[in-house]
Amino acid sequence: MGVTKHLAAVVLAAAVAAGPASLATAADGEAVQAVKARQDLMKSIGGNVKGLREMLQGKNTDTAADAQRRAEEIAESARQIAVLFEPEYHISNVGDIETTAKPELWTDYEDFTSKATALEEASGELALAAQTEDMNAIKTAFGDMSKTCGGCHQAYRVKKD
Ligand code: HEC
Repeated sequence: MGVTKHLAAVVLAAAVAAGPASLATAADGEAVQAVKARQDLMKSIGGNVKGLREMLQGKNTDTAADAQRRAEEIAESARQIAVLFEPEYHISNVGDIETTAKPELWTDYEDFTSKATALEEASGELALAAQTEDMNAIKTAFGDMSKTCGGCHQAYRVKKD
């Protein structure tokens, strides 16, 4: 019984010692996940943009219907931007986690979400243009949509070197 008691004390002491450290780890895990989720969203947008660009350059066999599907997927992703960027993790508060998000994103959050809406609308226009199967219209709409990426990145991302 003495041994059990001693053991219990040791376990308790270890738990207390681990307390603050394990809390910090939990918080880090949350940050890692939040940053990964939004970067994955951006990567999927990037993949669709690449497919569209290659189609317009004749480098893949995508049809106008594929372009429409890609545009609709981008619009759907754009609708998720505001929520996935709610957790405030940026270059100044995440330590080792790789991110390019500037703190200004959260001080100007309304402007940030209006830029997400601009992408949603522009990709909606692109989906409509794709329905017409008019390559020039698709090209123009694609160019307009691509500008909305840069509009947000310039304001709210640091350049990676
Ligand atoms: C409303 C703002 C906004 C819009 C619009 C936007 N992005 Fe982003 N994007 C960001 C932010 C902020 C990051 C940085 C995320 C991070 O590092 O945590 C990012 C990161 C990325 C990344 C890098 C992801 C990674 O793995 O680190 C890619 C690729 C990307 N965006 C592509 C695009 C493309 C293509 C478009 C347009 C079709 C677009 N984005 C539109 C805000 C935006």
